[in-house]
Amino acid sequence: MNIFSSRSVSATFNLISSLLLVVLFLALAYNSYRREQELILKGAVDNARTISRQIIETRDYLSKRVTSEPERNQSLIPQVAASQIAQQLTNGSNYYVRQVSLRYRNLDNRPDDFETAQLNLFKTGKPEEVWQVAAKAGRKSLRYLLPMLADRSCLNCHGSYESAPGYIQARFPKGHFSYGYKVGEMIGAISVAVPMDDLYRQVRHNLKRDLIYDGIVLLIFILLSAWLLHRSIISPVKTVAGSISEVARTGNFSERVELKRTDEIGELIDSFNLLMAELEHKTRQRAESEERYRNFIEIAQSPIVTFMSDGKIVISNQKAETLFGLNKEELLGQSLFDFMLEGEQMRRAIADYFSVGSSELIGTTTRQKMRDVCGKPFDVDMVISVSQAEQSQMFSAILRTAK
Ligand code: HEC
Repeated sequence: MNIFSSRSVSATFNLISSLLLVVLFLALAYNSYRREQELILKGAVDNARTISRQIIETRDYLSKRVTSEPERNQSLIPQVAASQIAQQLTNGSNYYVRQVSLRYRNLDNRPDDFETAQLNLFKTGKPEEVWQVAAKAGRKSLRYLLPMLADRSCLNCHGSYESAPGYIQARFPKGHFSYGYKVGEMIGAISVAVPMDDLYRQVRHNLKRDLIYDGIVLLIFILLSAWLLHRSIISPVKTVAGSISEVARTGNFSERVELKRTDEIGELIDSFNLLMAELEHKTRQRAESEERYRNFIEIAQSPIVTFMSDGKIVISNQKAETLFGLNKEELLGQSLFDFMLEGEQMRRAIADYFSVGSSELIGTTTRQKMRDVCGKPFDVDMVISVSQAEQSQMFSAILRTAK
């Protein structure tokens, strides 16, 4: 069964439009939530990339230009200086920046599981930046890795043991795995981690706020449109429907809807008023012609009754009333057949008239035996004529008492 068929039009319309609006609203909210999340991730990746590039540039610069100084001042070793700069750059933020290598010199630069996996991938595949949001102990963070490739200057300290400066040889003995790189080989990577939980929480907070604010606006919109719909369409249509059922109940065609509108509802109202005017006119005409007919039979010399096909008398004149010994109120509604001794025959004649289209008793003068209200019999010459009334046929009987 159609679930809408038992509801009112406005309820159906409001339900459907509200559902559509709510779906649209949720889709938009979800969309903007996803977009904000993407933007936040993009921002974090951009930051991680900038920091990493800065470190690489610093390291490259030091590696090329500051060649002899690290021997006396080890804080000028590219790795050490770049780490210090990175630390100062990210000071106060919760960014984590490291330079890691699978063949590390400093235990502090040993890669964690994620970094190890990525560095191994760099060795086999193409070494280029990668990032992903990873969850660790229930906390989400962006992990970003930018690989570092060895150029000629790096090989001063990362090439063969023999070519390395004395202080490097002293710290890392021959055969240490941090030697032996070639130009273009991946030495390690800058690893940046950005905690995302706070950022995502902010996005969720924004989403909640948007949902509440926009939800209120949506609610106001739905209520307003329901009210407008009711006011502009439902209520005038109801007025017209009310008038129609009022007319059906009372039969009073003087009913009009007083509502000036220029739209389709206005057309409906105009048509209704027009119909009522037409019906009122018709009814008045009919009443007038009935009146004329009544006056006409009243002055006739003979008793006349008009009856329906079932014999029920609907109009009579004074002479007929006297003939049957009843007044008008008593006579109207009685069956003419009841006053006839051969009423059944007449009933059949009327029925014949309907089935065959003619009957010998109709249109000709026939002698009929009748009785008045007291049962006193008398003979009449009767002529029955047929007239077409609105929906049914009516019959008029002119009676002349036989001498
Ligand atoms: C002057 C010598 C020297 C030069 C030149 C040099 N490094 Fe290093 N590098 C070192 C030393 C020493 C360490 C260990 C620092 C520490 O104790 O943290 C290191 C550490 C590193 C690390 C961290 C992993 C580890 O082994 O602990 C990476 C990655 C690295 N170097 C890459 C490079 C690259 C790339 C270049 C060229 C752009 C370069 N290095 C040039 C001496 C050098």
